[in-house]
Amino acid sequence: MLDESMEIRQISAAERTATMFPLQTYAFMPSPWTEGDEEAYEKRMPFFSTAISLIAEEHGQTLACAAALRMRQNVRGKVHDMAGVASVASHPSARRRGIVRGLLERLLRQARDDGSTVSALYPFRPSFYARFGYVGTPRHRIATFAPEGLAHLHRAELPGEVERLSMRDGFAEWQRLHERLLGERHGFAVYDETRAAEFRDDKRWVAIARVDGEVVGAVDYRVGSYGGDLYASDLLATGPLGRALLLQFFARHVDQVARVHVRVSTDEVPELWGTDFTVTTEAKVDQPRHGGAMVRVLDMPALTGTAAGSGDVTVEIPDDPLVGGLWRLTGEGGHLTVTKGTATPAATLTVGGLSGLLYGVLDPIEVVTRGLGQVDSAAVAPLSSLFPRQMPYICADF
Ligand SMILES: CC(C)(COP(=O)(O)OP(=O)(O)OC[C@H]1O[C@@H](n2cnc3c(N)ncnc32)[C@H](O)[C@@H]1OP(=O)(O)O)[C@@H](O)C(=O)NCCC(=O)NCCS
Repeated sequence: MLDESMEIRQISAAERTATMFPLQTYAFMPSPWTEGDEEAYEKRMPFFSTAISLIAEEHGQTLACAAALRMRQNVRGKVHDMAGVASVASHPSARRRGIVRGLLERLLRQARDDGSTVSALYPFRPSFYARFGYVGTPRHRIATFAPEGLAHLHRAELPGEVERLSMRDGFAEWQRLHERLLGERHGFAVYDETRAAEFRDDKRWVAIARVDGEVVGAVDYRVGSYGGDLYASDLLATGPLGRALLLQFFARHVDQVARVHVRVSTDEVPELWGTDFTVTTEAKVDQPRHGGAMVRVLDMPALTGTAAGSGDVTVEIPDDPLVGGLWRLTGEGGHLTVTKGTATPAATLTVGGLSGLLYGVLDPIEVVTRGLGQVDSAAVAPLSSLFPRQMPYICADF
């Protein structure tokens, strides 16, 4: 319980500079900061005007803050409104008083009431967010290789072309590809238009791969130095041809850069991109700076329509204000239906346990071994069948 003197209230994006900026900058940036930092923050605020920003105040002083960005995410074929939780920080003198717990509980409820049915965030420490029902997903991989390793692509005649544009010029097509992948890829998440607009001015190149005018791949990147490194974000492609076109584009930097670093999902296998191909593919996880996103469900009935295998299981989720209760999960004809349960539950799951199954990162046995629930032996097979392992690829960083 928070002290009575503590008030939690929603603020506008314009109010964030006076209230959230000092907390966020202290928590996440080198400090003390300079005046210019505050102005730069203020300029960015229009991009946060659709976010839900909450602060906790005591005697007029802001002690903690948290926000939810309006995003969308594909979870096993169904596109949900997603609350992208960010800007979570508290004043160092106010930590460990339960203030952030109060803020997050209110934030998740409000996001759910506004229509968000799932949520994701990048944790500074997963065990903190596990207390709020979140479960981990894989971190992206970074493939590092010398362009000469892809020499077989230099002169390959591929039925398509790649155009290099500034982010400003390529932004619309880059965005449309994100929208398309939102419909096609499990886990893929995108910002709303308001938040995404900030990236239009990023000082980056974007390489757009097209076949007969249709965009089949895109990657944004910057060149660090001549003879040095090329740093690319996610290698986005609709299929193998889009990927090959983008790799060919990288290969043609052979006399310009020594190494290419590109982000890939867990289902990419860069060592298969060429013969005699030297490549290192790494996922570095060390908190608080490098980790995978965490995810959770905010609304159970909204899961109806998710792609699922066959099965019929009643599960209980104890003690969660948003998704707690008895739920019957039925998979038929390739789709899940979620209704209020009445039968004796065959599994008792934490929100993290249920979310781990839904997002395809944990199977029922792992849910038990990770301490995220109890599953009767008879329920292991139907839960595995309903929720086959399938790694999500979130792509967006926030
Ligand atoms: C992380 C931070 C926001 C926590 O704020 P806080 O006000 O101390 O959090 P609360 O007191 O509300 O604690 C909430 C719960 O998390 C637990 N907790 C707090 N810090 C924790 C930590 N580092 N690791 C694991 N659990 C933690 C508390 O014990 C409490 O548990 P309970 O409610 O289940 O009993 C604050 O320490 C901070 O601003 N850190 C720097 C910025 C940062 O890392 N932000 C997170 C970005 S993702």
